[in-house]
Amino acid sequence: MSSPDLVRDFHHIWHPCTQHKDYETTPPILVERAEGIYLYDREGNRYMDVIASWWVNLFGHNHPRLNTALTRQLEKMAHVMFAGITHQPAIDLAETLVNLSPVGLEKVFFSDNGSTSVEVALKMSLQYWQEKGKPQKVRFAHLKGGYHGETLGALSVCGLDIFRTKFEKVLPEQLPVQGPDCFRCPYGLQRETCNAECFEPMEKALSENSNTVAGVIVEPLVQGAAGMMMYPPIYLKKLQSTCESLGIHMIFDEIAVAFGRTGSLFVCGEHDLKPTFLCLSKGITSGYLPLSATLTTDEIYSAFYGEHQDHKLFIHSHSYSANPLACAVANETLSMLTENGFLQSLNPKIATMKECGKQFEGIEGEFRQTGMIAALELVGKNKERFAFEKRIGYQVYLEGLKRGVFMRPLGDVVYFIPPLVITEEEIKIMLNTAHECINAVLKIN
Ligand SMILES: Cc1ncc(COP(=O)(O)O)c(C=O)c1O
Repeated sequence: MSSPDLVRDFHHIWHPCTQHKDYETTPPILVERAEGIYLYDREGNRYMDVIASWWVNLFGHNHPRLNTALTRQLEKMAHVMFAGITHQPAIDLAETLVNLSPVGLEKVFFSDNGSTSVEVALKMSLQYWQEKGKPQKVRFAHLKGGYHGETLGALSVCGLDIFRTKFEKVLPEQLPVQGPDCFRCPYGLQRETCNAECFEPMEKALSENSNTVAGVIVEPLVQGAAGMMMYPPIYLKKLQSTCESLGIHMIFDEIAVAFGRTGSLFVCGEHDLKPTFLCLSKGITSGYLPLSATLTTDEIYSAFYGEHQDHKLFIHSHSYSANPLACAVANETLSMLTENGFLQSLNPKIATMKECGKQFEGIEGEFRQTGMIAALELVGKNKERFAFEKRIGYQVYLEGLKRGVFMRPLGDVVYFIPPLVITEEEIKIMLNTAHECINAVLKIN
């Protein structure tokens, strides 16, 4: 470890989702500044941020308009508590979110990270059923493969063993359901043409348990942490009609997929779906500051309305709820997303990604894409997963670092969620370089 600062980092910092032993051989990149889609380290090396700093960045780093929105707000007020007090940036943001999201989502509850916005939706759903005299509705159906954050409540509806196994014993019991797996479809169908036959287990689970199920939570269209597993909107349509007929809340966790990632502002809006709760975070401030929002309906909100002695209030509070700096940047982010045909301008980029994805056809696996999200799942013969200890994805990551591309594969799924401002030329470089890295790794394995 050459830099004294990296030594200090190693001594004192516990980085997220990282085996710190790896830092003995590959220390973290000491990023000094970031500009557009690039990160620069102390030595001036440049890395293309193809995963948008954990899927948050939309407009590139150090954007003049976002910087101005932030500094203007900073001159007025950095933070105030959000009970007994309100402020203009939050009022503007709530109104904009309500106007832009599907009809029916009328109320916005702010918090400060994705997991928390999920916790809020779960708690609101549970309390709603209590207020409505159905206290037996205490479970949530969730998809195997789903991910909704890592606080204990959010983890209880996570369908990925790697995140939950060590904590299993303290997690509340929920209702895990086999979800879509289009790459390895057990029905032998294609996601482009199927009728979401894989909805069957969900339909069965919900109808058999509707008395005890409060809600069902899903990541619409793309199960991110599972390895960018993608499934068709017909699954969500079926889910909506089942939830409606059985009286079950539908919680859409669009934390990763909203704000242009799939090519539209919200998946629910694009596909005419009406969730009971919509969880938003990540791109909401284009990667500037932590902020999240849980949107819900007037029907839910009014169930919490009453006299003081009715004890109906929703008790959930975070010190940094609706931080004004974050709200101001979110307002600017939403203006930028919705003006001058910005979302339409993504279409040629989406097409370029698709075209460049063809170069992976000779590699065992699947290249898949939903809007501005693309992924290549690397497998052995017959779609067999590589042995865990081989760390194919990690080797690709190391090759990427050598070539100035910061990827961070999920297992053996190499994926791309670049800032939306990436150019078509940069998309070509991103995917061509990834191709080179993958070939280099597969050659020696
Ligand atoms: C779909 C989804 N939900 C929830 C979360 C948790 O968000 P946070 O990391 O801000 O807590 C994530 C984070 O990756 C996510 O992808």
